[in-house]
Amino acid sequence: MNKIFTEINNKYGSTARVAPKMLITSDPELVRRMNAVRSPFTRGPWYTSLKLHPDSENIACYTDEDKHNDMRSRMSFGYSGKENVHLEKDIDDLILEMINLIQKEYITKSEEDLFRCMDLAKVTSYFTLDIISKVAFGEPFGFLAANDDPFGYAANLKQYLPAVSWFGVYHELTNILRIPFIKAALPSSMDKRGLGRVMGFAHDRVQERFGEQAILRQDMLNSFIKNGLTPLELEGETMLQITAGSDSTASALRMTMHFISTSPPILQRLLAEANEAIAAGKVSRPIIKNSEALQLPYLQACIKEGLRVYPPITGILAKMVPKGGAKIDVDGVEKYAPSGTQIAWNSWGLMRNKEIFGPDVEIFRPERWLARDDTEETAKYMLRMNETLSLVFGYGRFGCLGKVVANMELNKALIETLLRFNLQPCRLSEPFKEFCSGFYIHDDMDFVVTER
Ligand code: HEM
Repeated sequence: MNKIFTEINNKYGSTARVAPKMLITSDPELVRRMNAVRSPFTRGPWYTSLKLHPDSENIACYTDEDKHNDMRSRMSFGYSGKENVHLEKDIDDLILEMINLIQKEYITKSEEDLFRCMDLAKVTSYFTLDIISKVAFGEPFGFLAANDDPFGYAANLKQYLPAVSWFGVYHELTNILRIPFIKAALPSSMDKRGLGRVMGFAHDRVQERFGEQAILRQDMLNSFIKNGLTPLELEGETMLQITAGSDSTASALRMTMHFISTSPPILQRLLAEANEAIAAGKVSRPIIKNSEALQLPYLQACIKEGLRVYPPITGILAKMVPKGGAKIDVDGVEKYAPSGTQIAWNSWGLMRNKEIFGPDVEIFRPERWLARDDTEETAKYMLRMNETLSLVFGYGRFGCLGKVVANMELNKALIETLLRFNLQPCRLSEPFKEFCSGFYIHDDMDFVVTER
């Protein structure tokens, strides 16, 4: 999907029609205009496909602007980390657990006459799933401890996400089929496996916070309760947190690790920067602080380049043209989009804009994020790159609420893993080679791991 949309935008213009009443855009100005705080554009019916709980909506699927704004204002404190005092410590603990797992299960030792393979896709997914459950409601699912998908959640999500993409595009089907079919297909908290089992886990964690012996913990769930979310709303939101917050970050982490590990000069430069900072006492051990990671320019350049080359969310996030229609500038030519048209984003194409990022957009090259000189012209060029990249997290009133959590995970986990382990790729599965992106769970991303 991401590649086809990019071909379409390259061939027919930065905003092009892909279906009746559906345009696709790789124009950063238009994306910002539609998402801006006071924009008359609204969410299109595409978003209704993001309902994950049979009886409760969530912040990502409301198409009613007032309801969305209200929920967003009540939930932003919990997501920002301001009302979640354990956030950084929780992430540190789980990084140590992931490192421990790799050391115990996957290190290839020279005295043994065999190579062990580690599926980086699985390990990074287990890591981000445990993080989201820990920071959201105080208890990790236990994927890392089991080194497994013990209740078939990832396997179930892998089947379920393509359906989300289908029902988003053919949203009319959602209305026709929702009652008899979708409701039956949606998970139930009574299920023993898959998404339903996660829903049951979420249901139990929510119930623990109410009643006479309610558990008190300063985390996201507590912040949402403080800001008036009902138990049913909490369950819907928890389901979203788990799906929105895990594979997106895992995808960014494993793809960036892959690109760095397969580019020796990049890896060496990154490690040299980190080791120098450690020697100068500027990096805490055993886990780097978020504030310290932000001071390492090459690490930041690698993270940005990973998000650019492989934007984790390529779901089409279609917004709706308001009453009265909208004039749209398509590469300098004014066009008219009638009211009711949906305009979807093409994140892959946005991050491959040669005018913004340079002619070598297909290459993973962190150096593009380091200013060559301190002229005003370079500063302007860098600002445009940074502003465009920030769109991987969405923008304005629809921007990602989990950005702080995701960035903290990336800032810490990437460098702490690479400082300890040498990752040598040994097998990539077919879909991975095809550069699948967004709404897709990777697997079979095998690496041989040795101690550095
Ligand atoms: C690298 C990782 C991530 C990326 C690239 C990413 C990207 C995005 C994007 C593009 C959107 C939708 C914007 C739109 O609708 O126009 C979004 C929404 C959202 N994300 Fe993320 N996300 C990431 C990680 C996370 C994490 C870790 C969490 C949870 C802790 C999270 C929670 C959310 C929520 C709740 C929304 C809905 C916001 C709203 O409806 O107002 N995301 N994200």
